[in-house]
Amino acid sequence: MWSGRFARVTVRVWEPSTPPGVGAASPVVDEAEAVEFLELFHAENPEAGPAAPRIRWVRAEIGFTGTYQHTSAELAFGARVAWRNSARCIGRLYWRSMRVRDLRAVREPAAVAAECAEHLRIAFNGGKVRPLITVFAPDAPGRPGPRIWNEQLIRYAGHRQADGSVLGDPRYAGFTEAVGRLGWRRPERPSAFDALPLVVSSDGETHLSTLPEDAVVEVPLVHPELEWFAELGLRWHAVPAISNMRLSIGGVSYPAAPFNGWYMGTEIGARNLTDPDRYDLLPEVGRRLGLDTGREQTLWKDRALVEINRAVLHSFAAAGVTISDHHTESARFLKHLEKEERAGRVCPADWSWIVPPMSGGLTPVFHRYYDTPHLRPEFVADEDATRASLEGVAPTLPPTVPTRLTPMWTYLGGRRPARS
Ligand code: ARG
Repeated sequence: MWSGRFARVTVRVWEPSTPPGVGAASPVVDEAEAVEFLELFHAENPEAGPAAPRIRWVRAEIGFTGTYQHTSAELAFGARVAWRNSARCIGRLYWRSMRVRDLRAVREPAAVAAECAEHLRIAFNGGKVRPLITVFAPDAPGRPGPRIWNEQLIRYAGHRQADGSVLGDPRYAGFTEAVGRLGWRRPERPSAFDALPLVVSSDGETHLSTLPEDAVVEVPLVHPELEWFAELGLRWHAVPAISNMRLSIGGVSYPAAPFNGWYMGTEIGARNLTDPDRYDLLPEVGRRLGLDTGREQTLWKDRALVEINRAVLHSFAAAGVTISDHHTESARFLKHLEKEERAGRVCPADWSWIVPPMSGGLTPVFHRYYDTPHLRPEFVADEDATRASLEGVAPTLPPTVPTRLTPMWTYLGGRRPARS
């Protein structure tokens, strides 16, 4: 876990490609996208009144400034619908209940990092994990919002060893090396579960900070029957908070908008701990179980997989931390599909992501096809953000194009005021 022995450093490794305000800037907001969103918002929120006056206002605001500010209600709705539209997520039944922290006024890197830690505390909620999103400053013409480099707020370092092997999570070996170059000092005795520092860039500054200990709650993994399981020294963090996806609402981009739900056990037990390019634990657990690991036919992998997953579900439950199994989550997803259908909406779903990574055919989500329309608002995985989160390469800023703002007189009766 964390202690104060890691330095907080601020380094300048990232500069805005254009100085704010002059000549060139990020693209202005696409008016058609703004209108599409506002129509959706007003259609689904009749208490907000008719869309037309708001649309007129927003068109004018885009004309003056190149962008527009969402109301708090629009922001919350947009974030929730972005979740509802996430075709890869099985956990969408509770999309309406996601809490939205409106931190659009926060952009300074150290403040963003501190609020990310606060996000983790609020989301953990004493073990009763709640879906939450924190929305930081958006991209605006000439002034990009903050960027969080990390893929998730909590992830484990992958320490590359002299022999080429990796201690920890190999997925983040590149990121771990990169933060080392940025000044992160790894623990004196590196372990397989060292939380990585947060890296946040904003307004030309990049800030590296370790998460405070109380923000990183972890569950030690034990097995309900196999006593030796605890000796493996495994653990996992309680809150999965994705931090490298851009939230796109009505043409406005929020590049820093970390969000979380709770874990489904298989994410940890059937992927993170078992994928050959992650913690790769099947061989060791198979051996400890005394299985014949020399022949596929013995299904030793499947048997080891079940025990690891039992340990994950058991340990989280015993620690009082929310988690769900893939059978329950599959049933909930079908209920979600039904509800969406009844509401007259199509629900995009990607079969290869929705079907759990173990016992697929035992779950009802396996036995059908899904619609795959691309709907907005949405969470977007930009290529450069993905690269930043895996390789630790500085994210790029929005493309710069000349900004053509509509002159104000267009909105003042269409006539250019006479010069005096
Ligand atoms: N699969 C990712 C992980 O293992 C987390 C993705 C989001 N999961 C969630 N339950 N909200 O960390």
